[in-house]
Amino acid sequence: MTISGQAKLAGVAGWPVGHSLSPRLHGFWIAQHRLDAAYVPLAIKPEDFAAAFAVLPKLGFRGFNVTLPHKEMAFSLTVDHDAAAVATGAVNTVVFENGRAMGRNTDVFGFSALLGEHGIVSLTSKSVVVLGAGGASRAIIASVLSLGAERVFLVNRTIEKARALAAFFGERVQADDWARLPSLLARAALLVNTTSLGMNGQPELTIDLSALPTDAVVADIVYRPLQTRLLAQAQARGLKAIDGLGMLLHQAQPGFAAWFGVEPVVTPQLRAHLVAALEGRD
Ligand code: ATR
Repeated sequence: MTISGQAKLAGVAGWPVGHSLSPRLHGFWIAQHRLDAAYVPLAIKPEDFAAAFAVLPKLGFRGFNVTLPHKEMAFSLTVDHDAAAVATGAVNTVVFENGRAMGRNTDVFGFSALLGEHGIVSLTSKSVVVLGAGGASRAIIASVLSLGAERVFLVNRTIEKARALAAFFGERVQADDWARLPSLLARAALLVNTTSLGMNGQPELTIDLSALPTDAVVADIVYRPLQTRLLAQAQARGLKAIDGLGMLLHQAQPGFAAWFGVEPVVTPQLRAHLVAALEGRD
């Protein structure tokens, strides 16, 4: 695909950014829709982020995605935050419009859309157990609350962090002890791992899933590897298991639509294109 002098520009800012799948993801949609556009990696050090942020619109960028470690800084540099950005205190999608830098968080939409893809459109009167209380956890909690979850049990190694996050979200979210997992799981319709446990190079997440109801769903936000031990355990019990790649695919959609004016779709072909990269086949 060639681009012209009028190509629409966007990208992903991170440090490091070399591992990001976003250029491949957006590049797939750009080619599919035959757009005169480019989406590029932007390796920006934390100390340079504010300066780079100010320059990108002057270079003609329509906006960009933000990944670690810049999401909180992007929140402070943007205006007109959407509800998800307010709920998470983090911005992963910046849209430059009429001289303003609008801040959005599409991770919340991404997780909700992923659940929708698996037939879960409502969690009304359901309990959810969330493992981990970091940045990713905030987006997952905001997502399941927006789907109507009655109760979210937030379990984290450092209980103080879970308590602080639970207090931020209010009475539907409750911090609880790791040791109480069996009784929490017995009531859960959905279990989500948002910790880094199970990721390549990290310790395994070892929990006993036997207390989960037979119709419970298990989701992992980890996608390196795609099949985590947690998901393998869930499948061995016959439970629906959702891997972390789907959230990445769905969170990309609103930014692409805003920058390039086309509503892209998450398809099995797109997923296969990214799985090939994760598995080192392409
Ligand atoms: P992110 O923004 O991607 O969520 P993070 O803010 O660093 O990343 O959060 C990582 C999460 O994984 C935290 O909930 C962390 O638990 P602590 O708050 O106790 O640090 C969790 N985590 C990381 N390593 C862990 C380990 N070895 N055992 C248990 N939890 C772990």
